[in-house]
Amino acid sequence: MEVSYNNRSLKIDGEGKIIISGAIHYPRSTAEMWPSLMQKAKDGGLNAIETYVFWNAHEPSYREYDFSGNLDLVRFLTTVRDAGLYAILRIGPYVCAEWNYGGFPVWLHNLKPNITLRTTDDTYMDEMKTFTTKIVDMVKQANMFAPQGGHIILAQIENEFGNIMSDFGDEGKEYINACADFANSLDIGVPWIMCQQQDAPSPMIETCNGFYCDAYSPKKNDLPKFWTENWTGWFKAWGDRQPYRTAEDVSFAVARFFQYGGSLQNYYMYHGGTNFGRTTGGPYITTSYDYDAPLDEYGNVNQPKWGHLKQLHELLIAAEKILTNGVRRDIDYGDMMGVSVYEFSGQRFCFFGNANNQDEQTFSFEGNNFTIPAWSVSILPDCFIEVFNTAKVNTQKSIMVKRPNEADQGEEPFNLQWTWLPEYVEKIKKPMAHSLKTKGTKYVNKLLEQKAATNDTSDYLWYLTSVNINGSDKVWNKEITLQVNTQGHVLHAFVNGQHIGSQWGKGGKYDFQFEKNITLTAGNNSISLLSVTVGLKNYGAYFDKTEVGVVGPVKLISSNDTMDLSNNSWAHKVGLHGEVNEFYQVEKSNHLTWNAENLPTNRMFTWYKTTFQSPPGEEPVVLDLMGLGKGIAWVNGNNIGRFWPSFNSDNNGCSPTCDYRGSYDSGKCVGNCGKPSQRWYHVPRSYLRNDGNTLILFEEIGGNPSSVTVNTVAVGSVCGNAFEGSTLELSCQGVRVISDIKFASFGDPIGTCGSFATGTCQSPNSKDVLIKNCLGKQSCSINVTEWTFEPSGCQIFPKRLAVEAIC
Ligand code: GAL
Repeated sequence: MEVSYNNRSLKIDGEGKIIISGAIHYPRSTAEMWPSLMQKAKDGGLNAIETYVFWNAHEPSYREYDFSGNLDLVRFLTTVRDAGLYAILRIGPYVCAEWNYGGFPVWLHNLKPNITLRTTDDTYMDEMKTFTTKIVDMVKQANMFAPQGGHIILAQIENEFGNIMSDFGDEGKEYINACADFANSLDIGVPWIMCQQQDAPSPMIETCNGFYCDAYSPKKNDLPKFWTENWTGWFKAWGDRQPYRTAEDVSFAVARFFQYGGSLQNYYMYHGGTNFGRTTGGPYITTSYDYDAPLDEYGNVNQPKWGHLKQLHELLIAAEKILTNGVRRDIDYGDMMGVSVYEFSGQRFCFFGNANNQDEQTFSFEGNNFTIPAWSVSILPDCFIEVFNTAKVNTQKSIMVKRPNEADQGEEPFNLQWTWLPEYVEKIKKPMAHSLKTKGTKYVNKLLEQKAATNDTSDYLWYLTSVNINGSDKVWNKEITLQVNTQGHVLHAFVNGQHIGSQWGKGGKYDFQFEKNITLTAGNNSISLLSVTVGLKNYGAYFDKTEVGVVGPVKLISSNDTMDLSNNSWAHKVGLHGEVNEFYQVEKSNHLTWNAENLPTNRMFTWYKTTFQSPPGEEPVVLDLMGLGKGIAWVNGNNIGRFWPSFNSDNNGCSPTCDYRGSYDSGKCVGNCGKPSQRWYHVPRSYLRNDGNTLILFEEIGGNPSSVTVNTVAVGSVCGNAFEGSTLELSCQGVRVISDIKFASFGDPIGTCGSFATGTCQSPNSKDVLIKNCLGKQSCSINVTEWTFEPSGCQIFPKRLAVEAIC
């Protein structure tokens, strides 16, 4: 295939293309999940899949590469190809993406002092070129670029550098030019893109990212209008409420983009997935990266978003010729109402767009009257009959439920049986002595920055020192204050072995000052600080320079003196004892003597272990970790991510309904107020074994594992809504069948899903029709007409059928 472009679109073998792409990041699911994700993307009307490439995952240590399991990029791209989809490869290798350190390996930052990433620094440039070249070569070897007969049609270098370029002065421009020159030299045979890079150096194609990109146009007028990130929802940090972006608003944004000349659009994310292990960026990004994407975290279809967008995609792709070649005429009706007519070789295609966020608009077009709801776009493939309106959602709404593990309901006890081990904490009186014996200990007269000390091999870094107090000293032999200045992200402080307090940033602010009153004793006193990272920063100018950990000063403050301990002799110890000794590996854990008695609760630094049977069937598996504090969880040795179910979101700001009309932002339409930001944790099916599974938790701040359960997640109920003249489709989206019709009314029903009620009139046999056609089936469809139902006596047109069914 030959890939080129003109100012309208990408061209494949000379033909203009409408590209509807979706982001699926391979490390955020498993290789076993990829085929079904691709199929669902294809069924959802996509013709391309986009991914970033995650450098720090592939090169965890300098020149040691990993392309195994869910890091098998070529296997991922092969899955995309096998599904008949194009691929867009955003190599970066800086990727942002709420990914740890934006995808940069921390060893790169530690390679030499004062290195600044994303500049023309020689070391940085060399390394980024080495990695990018490696990826390009790998993909070339698999013949995956379009001119090689492959399916990759675009590649990206850097990411949104334009957003921060001015912070770098002239150097910024030099750097982006160097990136462009380098990309060009790789000779991949398909165009390169640079997102959020206004006036990108030729021949890079600049592209737009955002919730809306209809008003965007590239600076150079020979370039097509591309949208690389249409944010389908938003990510979440610990303490955040759940962001939602409605199907109505996403489809409105898409339709407007194509109305105003766009031709390539990529959903960010189409499947968000999970930040397994220590891959989240941040700081403080949750393990779930669900994003309210059309495919949910576990790979289930998120309805109605997925289905509503599918209808739109099919219309746009069917109009490919007209949209990429046609002449466009815009007619302004005032009040934000605009009609666009595309015309090409005798055929027409119309968008009727109403961007007024309050009022529907009625107007006349070529002698016919049309009414377009507020904040919506209608599509009329012949400019005569409306076949789709972004605000009229006909797709079912699916309500997902978690069901207890069926394997547990036989002979097995439902409650998991737990054993435990304490994390070895310093023999506190002599922390230095102990630390010095420990491998990896760094013993210096200062406080080390955490990334520098750990190379990011662990979240945990101990800072240990001691203070000698003379028994006759008047200043220090009374209550004083320990003050610790840290760059985050979590701090646990101990004096003489006693936990004196813990603290972490709130509302996204990660640097803080910890202060606590303490009393020292005569002689040696130990001060042990455990600093914990929760995902390294991934965005902003110079984000790579952001310091983490206890960078100080650390002080003792009495009423008449201050003792600065920052230049004391500090021992630094990387990682937990159980982490270094791999307590979480099943084999290793079997050689330890776990305590079965006196299961502690609310105890810091505790390892818990249990076993469970795999839930039968194929439905995704999730752990309910309610009751636990914060820590890390492993299933059969696989790190399923950090948990922090004790971190609740704000009580306020949620509303049961969301008015999608008007510009979306991530603070609009939030849910899950006053509840754990993340209670459920995905365990991919491929991590499970038929002969039983081991779950190991490290509990850092104290919690109770007794209420932990294993669950499956699937559709619990579905709601459908259809007007007379259309077809209502209901589906349990899997092997389950419709087991009950909770509500059905053909007439003028009121309310919304979960609270439907009959209106003033209805067909008496409404429910019977649904029972006859749908009960016991995985899916069914009903023609919503007078003939399907008994007379309703309603004097209205069109009547509406509303159904709530149980799966
Ligand atoms: C963009 C960035 C993406 C992602 C997104 C927010 O600015 O390019 O990588 O971070 O924001 O989810």
